[in-house]
Amino acid sequence: MIEIKKQIADSLAEHLPAESENIENLLQIPPEPEMGDYALPCFVFAKKLKKSPAKIAEKLAENLSKPDGINEFHAEGPYLNISVDRPRMYSKLLGSIVKTGKEVFSNDSGKGKTVVIDYSSPNIAKHLAVHHLRSAIIGRSLYNIFQACGYHCIGINHLGDWGTSFGKLIAAFERYSDVSPQDADVSDLQNLYVRFSKESEENPELEDLGRRKFKELENGDPEATKLWKQFKKISIEEFKKIYELLGIEFDAYTPESFYLSLAEDLLNRLRAKDIAMESENAVIADLEEQDMPPLMLQKNDGTTLYATRDLCAAEYRWINYRFEHCIYVVGGEQKLHFRQLKTVLKKMGYDWSDRIEHIDFGLLKLRDPKTGKASVGSTRKGDMILLEDVLKNGIERAKEKLNENIEKLSDDADLDKLAARIGIGAVMFSDLAVKRNKDVVFDWDRMLDFHGDTGPYVQYAHARLCSILRKAGVDVRPNADCALLKLPEEWKLVRLIEIYPSRIMQAAEKREPSIIANYLLNLCKLFSSYYSLGMKEPEKRVICEDQHVLGARLMLVEATKNVIAHGLELLGMNAPERM
Ligand code: ARG
Repeated sequence: MIEIKKQIADSLAEHLPAESENIENLLQIPPEPEMGDYALPCFVFAKKLKKSPAKIAEKLAENLSKPDGINEFHAEGPYLNISVDRPRMYSKLLGSIVKTGKEVFSNDSGKGKTVVIDYSSPNIAKHLAVHHLRSAIIGRSLYNIFQACGYHCIGINHLGDWGTSFGKLIAAFERYSDVSPQDADVSDLQNLYVRFSKESEENPELEDLGRRKFKELENGDPEATKLWKQFKKISIEEFKKIYELLGIEFDAYTPESFYLSLAEDLLNRLRAKDIAMESENAVIADLEEQDMPPLMLQKNDGTTLYATRDLCAAEYRWINYRFEHCIYVVGGEQKLHFRQLKTVLKKMGYDWSDRIEHIDFGLLKLRDPKTGKASVGSTRKGDMILLEDVLKNGIERAKEKLNENIEKLSDDADLDKLAARIGIGAVMFSDLAVKRNKDVVFDWDRMLDFHGDTGPYVQYAHARLCSILRKAGVDVRPNADCALLKLPEEWKLVRLIEIYPSRIMQAAEKREPSIIANYLLNLCKLFSSYYSLGMKEPEKRVICEDQHVLGARLMLVEATKNVIAHGLELLGMNAPERM
């Protein structure tokens, strides 16, 4: 973690009724560099100290001794402005970013704490569709962000592999399939299911058959279980291919079926505590007092439900992980489910129920290039648009773009690999740059624009920084003198780099990867405007005549590059060195 603010906060804490950490969070950057480097607004202390904010600022300015590296404390109305020894402090800052690598951006706010993150978690026997994207990449990015805050992270894929629909699928397979279980693929499973559902509209007996098959499955019938296992295997193999494209991993695949053996005991305890009761042969938890509909936990045929298994999963996670936060990255349509879940856990007397968090997100829409309208993606046949097709489309388009500028790439560039990094990065970034609860609109032309607010734009900025460093052809030394960075753009860059670690903290606190994405866009834009100065005025070029200035500028370039690479990594994206 970068230390300047901490040092200041420590010395202020001796004179103020607040912890150093809180003071650190209060420190702002003044609007004009002439006002100083940091400002402490004194309003918050007025009540406690029974003095006006201006008086507090004045007293502080008078009484504070100046620790090493701080030049001046100076009151300006209700603010205490603080000027630091810029060359020294910021040379140290950039130097440590150049020297230390990634750890310098991390903090230890989550040290000793565990966060469980449930993401992607699709239902098996269906293709991953475009609407599955958001949970997967928001979840994985949050995982990376929490990790950078020192948390121990557990990423879980809570596969939906249980429920009546799998009874129906078994029935459908036995009835219609002309391929053997070993030769079937996910499309076969999906088609069989659709056919079964259609036919059961005319023939309601099929519904019963499906339910019976599910019951057999819950009772451990060997034939049913064998088929179901095969369906699961086929699905996971396909999912893993797409996760690989997205660069997404999990610490555990713990599917719904895993919790079955825990359900009976859970239901008994819920009944004993009067949280759950029989109702028309089913078991429900009544939540009327909480203004919610009842939560069904067992059907009248004795089978369990999604909610039952989620309750078992929550207990299991608590017992095994003692989490600080248990986060479910799941679309907004399951709001009620998670409210009910949390309420039942609370009724069970678990104070950790407050740590259960449903992190929801807006819809993902695709813009139709012909009509310009955005809609939730489905094809004319009503099928969902497959995630794999979207990703491949992104890769193809990225390849076309790269081909337009092929002369810029080195001869040994692996075009396919690069296109994948850019195309998939474009898809991911266009999602992650949008605030989580807003809808995302995919617009192919826009998201691959190397000059727009896009993933490729950020990746391209990174590649350009790498190219500057290559061209300079000298080692970047971490001990160059920042006093030589005299251009306002350089100064702004330094200050923007300085706040990067606090953006990581914010992104974790708000569960909001878009904070990182938008920070990166700002950083790249600022760098771009700095870089373009040199095109008009040669003495402003990074690679300039004066070797000392060159050293300082290269340190700035390298630090900027490291921040971008790290930020992209937090978003789960690649940072190619050439583009
Ligand atoms: N399988 C569910 C779905 O596709 C999402 C599961 C989310 N995780 C959970 N623990 N409920 O809608």
